[in-house]
Amino acid sequence: MNKKDIILTGDRPTGPLHLGHYVGSLVNRVKLQETAEQYIMIADVQALTDNFSNPQKVHENVLEVALDYLAVGIDPLKSTLLIQSLLSAIPELTLYYMNLVTVARLSRNPTVKNEIQQKGFGESLPVGFFTYPINQAADITAFKATIVPVGDDQAPMIEQTNEIVRSFNRIYQTDVLVEAKAVISKCPRLPGIDGKSKMSKSLNNAIFLKDSADDLAKKVKSMYTDPTHLKVEDPGKIERNTVFEYLDVFGSDKNKVMELKAQYQAGGLGDMKVKMYLLDELNAFLEPIRKRRAEFEKDKAMVLKMILSGTKKAQEVTQKTLHEVKTAMHLIY
Ligand code: TRP
Repeated sequence: MNKKDIILTGDRPTGPLHLGHYVGSLVNRVKLQETAEQYIMIADVQALTDNFSNPQKVHENVLEVALDYLAVGIDPLKSTLLIQSLLSAIPELTLYYMNLVTVARLSRNPTVKNEIQQKGFGESLPVGFFTYPINQAADITAFKATIVPVGDDQAPMIEQTNEIVRSFNRIYQTDVLVEAKAVISKCPRLPGIDGKSKMSKSLNNAIFLKDSADDLAKKVKSMYTDPTHLKVEDPGKIERNTVFEYLDVFGSDKNKVMELKAQYQAGGLGDMKVKMYLLDELNAFLEPIRKRRAEFEKDKAMVLKMILSGTKKAQEVTQKTLHEVKTAMHLIY
């Protein structure tokens, strides 16, 4: 990582951000803003690809997501926050890149493939959703990003982007587009509180960064543990036990966590006790985040102004890339 690195990353504003976002990419972004030039995109256009009939939801969550960024320590003096739909260069780049990607290649993109299955689109798969990886390639290349800190589910998107970069530069005999590297977090996959799959808002198993202490307590108490651990004195399993998986990530005292694991496996430690310990640890982690969020929430107009000024800077950067792209494509008249 060096000063010349440019980072472009972002999230779809479809709901508040959760602990999965935090460990998957926010924690990296907070670090990377110290050493590189970082742009963080609130991807409202991408959010619309599967929420086109719910524009109000997307609109409202733009500010929610911005508040979450600020709450976890994204510093507007070090990172540039921006709104995707205000950048007209991106749809234009998307259209040009569409010539360089085959339907077969898009169909093989594992991230989209999964999502299409999960959402059960079937025959009514919208073209906009199917092609969003091309739109995301436009996001990344418009900034000439060299680094994209994202969760591991997004790695195929960066691969697809780099293929477009190579095709474009080869076909139009240029070097205007730049390949990017995905930076995947050390803890890319946090299970949801149901222990079944990855934490996700749509699966209803998420702990949100903005959850109150009361909501958090309810969620932690309902967390999935070892279903065969019925009595306190029974030995319990720590493998695929969500409470211990969370303690591995959020436990501030590694020795204490090791002690609890040993005790749990030997028998004599009840689920509720471990959950109460995890609850304390999560509250200690989330409380400063909640406090910062509440401060920024008092002045939403200021937050919006800040995103709009970041967007303005992003417009200049992306228009410059678009001009270079159009020059390479002989589209300047
Ligand atoms: N696809 C990302 C998500 O699902 C959001 C996103 C849009 C993004 N554009 C991006 C991430 C560019 C990294 C880089 O949350």
